Amino acid sequence: MTTPYPGLELLATAVLVLDEHLRVTYANPAAETLLAHGRKHLLGTALAKVLPGNDRFVARLEQAVADDAGFNENELALELGGQPAIVHCVAVPVTEDGGRLLIELRELDQQIRIAKEAKLLEQQQANRELIRNLAHEIKNPLGGIRGAAQLLERELPDPDLKEFTQVIVKETDRLQSLMNRMLTPHRLPQIEMLNVHEVMERVRTLLLAEYPEGLSVRRDYDVSLPDLPGDKESLIQAILNVARNAAQAMEGRGEIAFRTRIARQVTIAKTRYRHAVSVEIEDNGPGVPEDLAGKIFFPLVSGRDGGTGLGLSLAQNYVHQHHGLIEFESAPGRTRFTILLPVRSPQQAGLARH
Ligand SMILES: Nc1ncnc2c1ncn2[C@@H]1O[C@H](COP(=O)(O)OP(=O)(O)OP(=O)(O)O)[C@@H](O)[C@H]1O
Ligand SMILES: [Mg+2]
Repeated sequence: MTTPYPGLELLATAVLVLDEHLRVTYANPAAETLLAHGRKHLLGTALAKVLPGNDRFVARLEQAVADDAGFNENELALELGGQPAIVHCVAVPVTEDGGRLLIELRELDQQIRIAKEAKLLEQQQANRELIRNLAHEIKNPLGGIRGAAQLLERELPDPDLKEFTQVIVKETDRLQSLMNRMLTPHRLPQIEMLNVHEVMERVRTLLLAEYPEGLSVRRDYDVSLPDLPGDKESLIQAILNVARNAAQAMEGRGEIAFRTRIARQVTIAKTRYRHAVSVEIEDNGPGVPEDLAGKIFFPLVSGRDGGTGLGLSLAQNYVHQHHGLIEFESAPGRTRFTILLPVRSPQQAGLARH
């Protein structure tokens, strides 16, 4: 597709060009994201229709076109998709391609959000390193302890004392398998171009087999999503761990929603991607316990009887291997986990090493 303003395509701020009747003649990808409409829908549509409920702003733009003059407004209160938003707006008169006014809209929250995500990711990476090192340190001596307990057992004069060496062997085995799970499997990832819905359908089947009664999974898929490179088994495991938690939180009774959407111009770990696939798993259970909220991605953190607390830590590892991001919002009655997976070209498709 040719675009009249190629230089504006990669900007993170939304740019629109309007004609004399305030119809959109150009919208960059960031504008599509901000206005939650695709370019096809935006082009030729009057701004008043794209931004309903913003009459004052539209009047201001009409005035600017009439006067052939720009303006600059900080902290403009707009309604975007029914939500109030504070934006910074710059309008400049233009003359190219039938356009009369170019407007730049920058959501003030955006800056804050990008900084928050970067910090979260940095923190998660530091945690993972710490955990890996710790798990290795614990795992190494376990073999020695187990072996020594077995040698000791053979030398024991009283067979009744075997009970104690057996405890040592059993407990080291338990720790060993825990550490192995924590260090994520050594299986070589198999990267292929995959459709995220195939992954979600597998998870859905597995989940419904585990909870045949009382659980329903509502699907809200954007079928136009592009394929993305990934390791299918890891992604199934990651999404299953999240969805299984949702089912467990609701004690197997309730509704889980699987939602997929395209996200445009996302920045994850300081890398910008034109597109990412957003996968949401939402439940209407009691919500993540407040005292756990800041640490559920840590291994061994569990609010469940019998939980090992590894599910989300593993899910996070797999998502990070795919250069993605996992986060959640939770309140009683609504908990939503969001997994963002960047759509990388097959050339850059290798998984991150962890
Ligand atoms: N959808 C959810 N609703 C409420 N609480 C949740 C939800 N998802 C996770 N949690 C909380 O986060 C904790 C950690 O989850 P995680 O999957 O890491 O471990 P686990 O489920 O306890 O054990 P494992 O997955 O290893 O069997 C859970 O024990 C639960 O308290
Ligand atoms: Mg779990």
